[in-house]
Amino acid sequence: MEPENLLPSIVWRGNYSGNLDLIKKRIYSYIESKPYSMTNLYGNCIQSSAADEPPHEWEELTDFNTWFADSYMEPWKNWNYELTDNIVPKSWFTYYPKEAYAGAHTHNMVSLICIFYVNAPSGNLEIQNPLFYHWEGTPRRNGLEWLEIPVNTGDVIMIPGWVNHRTKPNESDDNRMIITINLYAH
Ligand SMILES: [Fe+2]
Repeated sequence: MEPENLLPSIVWRGNYSGNLDLIKKRIYSYIESKPYSMTNLYGNCIQSSAADEPPHEWEELTDFNTWFADSYMEPWKNWNYELTDNIVPKSWFTYYPKEAYAGAHTHNMVSLICIFYVNAPSGNLEIQNPLFYHWEGTPRRNGLEWLEIPVNTGDVIMIPGWVNHRTKPNESDDNRMIITINLYAH
């Protein structure tokens, strides 16, 4: 028997092999220059404002943006989305010092979330199985409610905005840094 994959794949993985040093430097300089424009989230993680110098407009992301423009089309088509030019991006970075994590959340009204792991020493992504409740009443061995996705520096994960997701805590002394790009298409 082989699976017949009729359903779209909700988690997509890629890897950006470009240089990350200048991007990391830009994040550190932002943190030093704008300590009050950032939001403290769960477990001491720090988030930049999506309205103020969003990363997708940084010149340090020029090469990444070219890579991203090609890469998101595959999940976009797999999810049966319209091909439209009417796409609005929003972006920000999140910085996780030791023990910081993100609690479970979704991105309301977002067509596609791109999570770019600029530095990922520790703290995998987890998504909630959207079919979890549908397997109730079956002889399942465990709930398979939260599914862990290993992530490394340079990885890029794309999921639809409705997928509930969270992160494991950063257990490293090194800081974890991600850039999130939300695409809104209407
Ligand atoms: Fe998120």
